[in-house]
Amino acid sequence: MGKKRATLPAGRQVVMSGIRPTGFLHLGNYFGAVRNYVRMQEEFECYFMVADLHSLTTHPDTKELKQNVHRVLSENIACGLDPDRVALYCQSHIHETTELYLYLNMLAYKGELEKTTTFKEKVRQQPDNVNAGLLTYPVLQTADIILHRAKYVPVGKDQEQHLEMARNFVNRFNHRYGEVFPEPQAFNFGEELIKVPSLDGAGKMSKSENQYATLYLSDDDELIRKKVMKAKTDSGPEKTNSPRPDYIQNIFLLMRLVSNSAIITKFETDYNNCSIRYGDMKKQLAEDMVQFITPIREKAEAIRNDEKYLREVMEKGAEKARKSAKATMELVRKALGLNYF
Ligand code: TYM
Repeated sequence: MGKKRATLPAGRQVVMSGIRPTGFLHLGNYFGAVRNYVRMQEEFECYFMVADLHSLTTHPDTKELKQNVHRVLSENIACGLDPDRVALYCQSHIHETTELYLYLNMLAYKGELEKTTTFKEKVRQQPDNVNAGLLTYPVLQTADIILHRAKYVPVGKDQEQHLEMARNFVNRFNHRYGEVFPEPQAFNFGEELIKVPSLDGAGKMSKSENQYATLYLSDDDELIRKKVMKAKTDSGPEKTNSPRPDYIQNIFLLMRLVSNSAIITKFETDYNNCSIRYGDMKKQLAEDMVQFITPIREKAEAIRNDEKYLREVMEKGAEKARKSAKATMELVRKALGLNYF
């Protein structure tokens, strides 16, 4: 590992993002978020955290929390995140987050929170546990981001609305109390935000739903092959250059993430001239997925077994995050007029 830096260099653009510890990380998390984290650590001041408080809105049972937090940390590091370069920390270790969350709650309205897509989805999924934390989920997420006065937030497409809400809360705060925060933007290197589709042609890859249609960074080679081979296809196009049905387009999309361009061109040509054999295409995709996932899985397993190291990572990350949080909260309290001495 490189030389340790005691503090993050000043003056760089700030980046912040988070992942909930609610299950195994999958290809969607990787290509929507973590791949960008790894690239951004080179040139930005980065804060990446495990959103354990957010996970309580849907997973009140905390028996597996520690194990899941360790898993997310290990998988992030195995993907190339360097804890000496970025602040890699746990959300609950930074108490300033909850203070800022409280202030922001006074600027967030029930009507807009109830209209949030993720809230409506969760209400459908867990009608017996529609808690206030669920309703104010985007407020807590905004607190995470602006606690470091971050400008760029690397996330997948599903987080677009949360970022739009964050900008609204920021603008309200700045308008009412004075300019403290920059407007945060969702970020993906040079492209549109990404949505990695599930293998069954319906929806996206997810930590807790449709597990057989999601490829996890912890899946072993056989499981990867089995899942890919089960992906939905049909008997193939009958006319040259026909449009691709969504579930076929998804297979091409997944191929574009992990396969080389000669392979992609071959299958695109085969599709366009109606000679495509989906069995061969899926076999190729499965092998390319195995090549991609195996080194990450093996590295993550080794890191996960080193609890002492993970503890050090969390402590070091929290220290860096607290420093930035403290500076922001001084500005916030002052702007709010909460300084009476
Ligand atoms: P979470 O844990 O659901 O997902 C973590 C990251 O993975 C991205 N992602 C995907 N990207 C592309 N395709 C998919 N199928 C896919 N599935 C997930 C998500 O967009 C996300 O970037 N609310 C956040 C956690 C959070 C956060 C934050 C994010 C808490 N505080 C502050 C950014 C900034 C969430 O639930 O992510």
